[in-house]
Amino acid sequence: MIEKIEISDTDSVYNYMDGEKILGYLEIRLVDGVIDIMNLFVNEENRKEGIGTALMNEVIEKEDYNRIMLEVNENNNEAIRLYTRLGFKEISLRDRYYGEDTAIIMEKVK
Ligand SMILES: CC(C)(COP(=O)(O)OP(=O)(O)OC[C@H]1O[C@@H](n2cnc3c(N)ncnc32)[C@H](O)[C@@H]1OP(=O)(O)O)[C@@H](O)C(=O)NCCC(=O)NCCS
Repeated sequence: MIEKIEISDTDSVYNYMDGEKILGYLEIRLVDGVIDIMNLFVNEENRKEGIGTALMNEVIEKEDYNRIMLEVNENNNEAIRLYTRLGFKEISLRDRYYGEDTAIIMEKVK
């Protein structure tokens, strides 16, 4: 089950629950029709079960937005595959955003 918790006027967290236990979460910020993915995390032992995809789909389907943006480490292949599968496109790069690593900026337009 996915529950949404509003933290402020702009920020919300979606928790993927198994009873009382949180298996994964997705934190977003929505300002002026643009959603920023602030954080997406699934417990290591619960990965590759569709939880990350389910959390992202919840936002894609339920939120009211024009576009969704995120930054992902160029070496984070699991996350890049997930976002690409959901229709996100690379729009630019930020060198050394993660120490030595480059960030890929991705976007999905509604
Ligand atoms: C990136 C991350 C959120 C993905 O979460 P996840 O729950 O494992 O994602 P999903 O299960 O939806 O998809 C992952 C893979 O499992 C596969 N999968 C989903 N359900 C499955 C199932 N029931 N059986 C087998 N495989 C399955 C998906 O097809 C996908 O395969 P692919 O990587 O070959 O494309 C997770 O790895 C994570 O928390 N990483 C650390 C934090 C992080 O990097 N966050 C992103 C920051 S930008």
